[in-house]
Amino acid sequence: MSESHGLDDPEIVEEELDILIIGGGMAACGAAFEITRWAEGTGLRIKLVDKAALSRSGAVAMGLSAINTYVGENDPADYVRYVRNDLMGIVREDLVYDVGRHVDDSVHNFEEWGLPIWKQPGDEGKPLRDGGKPVRSGHWQIMINGESYKWIVAEAAKKSLGQDRIQERVFIVRLVTDKNDPTRVAGAAGFSVREHKVYIYRFKCCLLVCGGAVNVFRPRSVGEGTGRAWYPVWNAGSTYAMAAECGAELTMMENRFVPARFKDGYGPVGAWFLLFKAKVANGMGEDYNAIHGAELKDTKRFGKYGQGVPGTCLRNHLMLNEMKEGRGPIIMDTATAMKTFAEKMTPKEVKHLEAEAWEDFLDMTISQCGIWAGENIEPDKTPSEIMPTEPYLLGSHAGCAGIWVSGPTDLPGTPKEWNWGYNRMSTVKGLFSAGDGVGASGHKFSSGSFTEGRIAAKAMVKFAIDNKGWKPEMERTRDELVAEIYRPVKTFVQYKDYTTAIDINPHYITPKMLQFRLQKIMDEYVAGVATFYQTNAKMLEMAEKKLVMLREDSLKMRAKDLHELLRAWENYHRILTAEAHMRHIQFRQETRYPGYYYRTDHNYIDDENWKCFVNSRYDRNTGSWELKKVAHKHLIKD
Ligand code: FAD
Ligand code: ADX
Repeated sequence: MSESHGLDDPEIVEEELDILIIGGGMAACGAAFEITRWAEGTGLRIKLVDKAALSRSGAVAMGLSAINTYVGENDPADYVRYVRNDLMGIVREDLVYDVGRHVDDSVHNFEEWGLPIWKQPGDEGKPLRDGGKPVRSGHWQIMINGESYKWIVAEAAKKSLGQDRIQERVFIVRLVTDKNDPTRVAGAAGFSVREHKVYIYRFKCCLLVCGGAVNVFRPRSVGEGTGRAWYPVWNAGSTYAMAAECGAELTMMENRFVPARFKDGYGPVGAWFLLFKAKVANGMGEDYNAIHGAELKDTKRFGKYGQGVPGTCLRNHLMLNEMKEGRGPIIMDTATAMKTFAEKMTPKEVKHLEAEAWEDFLDMTISQCGIWAGENIEPDKTPSEIMPTEPYLLGSHAGCAGIWVSGPTDLPGTPKEWNWGYNRMSTVKGLFSAGDGVGASGHKFSSGSFTEGRIAAKAMVKFAIDNKGWKPEMERTRDELVAEIYRPVKTFVQYKDYTTAIDINPHYITPKMLQFRLQKIMDEYVAGVATFYQTNAKMLEMAEKKLVMLREDSLKMRAKDLHELLRAWENYHRILTAEAHMRHIQFRQETRYPGYYYRTDHNYIDDENWKCFVNSRYDRNTGSWELKKVAHKHLIKD
């Protein structure tokens, strides 16, 4: 703690770099690992800043039990087909293919760094790189013992970059454009979440990889359950908000992810569905997929998308129908699945299987084990309830919200508008992204996000070298930035003595209360759980008014300590992310993702008019948004 600096008088630390990596998750670690190889001998000044601690930050914090993208014996072109089917036809196939063709090398590295990967009998001990056959839970997924996954990957990043080039617990809140070129990024500013310090960095380029957005919508877990969510609570939409404020084009922000999860604990279902082949039934014990699955064949409503393997949102749709029509709850029969799976096994193998089933959760969602233990549920004996969660915004899981970026140049048929020089650079010069940050290309998961970070790192080194002689000059002064970042603290200090109860004051609103207000608006008007994920033009019009007013009122947020300052800035990022989401849903007049959300006034998929990307641009000077359709193209044949 810096002695002489108090809460309303932060120390200011300024630094000039060539490349700044903002975030410390899978994409950031991929970049940190890859970048040194290309930067060696160039003298480039590189730094990574993470809001949390690298070893346990981001979505992989608790660990994972599967790597969901490993191409292996498959064809990367099939990977594109799979992703495009799951995301209802609209993805940037150049970006998806690029991840698919490179991802396996990352997985092989993970194994070399010590990540235990399950192998087929007879192949134990044989690395994947040498042809060892993994245990696949699904066509693209492989099983791991991944409690320490993030720790292992972070260690490789630290080794590559060096501890002195990594700064933890710095929350970046603003990107700043160049003084002489408003289409170019020149710096970033943030603050320490532990000390009274503001950090200002100038650079030639940066990688913005702060993950997606959680707690934008009112969560199902409220009251005693507050704080639990599926998505990691520290990813608050920083990527989308900061990119938007810097003038970058966003894409497919109407998309969201609504994961079906074990109720209340948010435990993952993938391994149960794919590996253990567990069945789900409605409250009457019926196999609702068998009874109602044929509804997806209605081409007027679902176009061609309900004909083949239903994508994640369509699986949700069938589940939601049961719940809406009073045939809930949805129950997964974990006990029968385990029994069937165990039939061909020895007692020792069965014990091992039970241990794996528990480990599936202890590895990645410990809270689910807590719920089961607390409710006396033994999954090998008792079935469990499944429930679609509140919506999250992300670009690397079964969703594709994010930034519009330049892609690779070597794929035949790629439209020339999809590349403007540097792979994974946004429409703002020098601003790159990867993982949850890059839009229109979901299903990257942990391995694909790491890989995309590597791809971006290589391009960033080239950008920095190509711009060696260029000197960043920020469009905003240091004093302006400090005043803006610390405004919630100043507001608190100025008005705190006006009343005797610290939380009740006509001059300010606490970050917690403001967050409740945002979540209420999103939940009730923008297709949250309160309306069974339904909205329409009128509801969105009301949401628009309320969100604009919320943005205005957010300037009155207070911060009584560093923790509240963190919460206040998370809210600023969430509000802008929420607005982008709302405006995209408003613009796209169809229901592209039934089961994720419904525009009840256009409750069908309309390929004729909407088989296109929707891109948006925010103007921070006027607070206005511009949205447009961008032509879509398939690169890989059906
Ligand atoms: P993250 O890894 O989430 O990293 C974001 C980083 O940004 C963090 O370090 C965070 O601290 C930092 N940050 C955030 N805001 C700021 C800021 N303003 N300033 C500075 N730093 C900031 N994939 C699989 O392969 N298999 C699985 O089984 C699997 N299970 C999953 C389960 C859950 C619950 C979730 C949420 C995801 C799962 N995934 C899985 C997907 C995988 O975790 C993600 O695809 C991947 O982590 C995305 O990488 P990222 O770098 O974009 O984001
Ligand atoms: S996790 O990332 O939180 O573990 P989840 O458990 O949903 O995600 O899924 C893991 C993988 O299995 C993802 O690739 C997901 O798309 C896939 N998956 C989950 N459920 C199903 C299902 N019923 N059918 C096909 N694929 C599924």
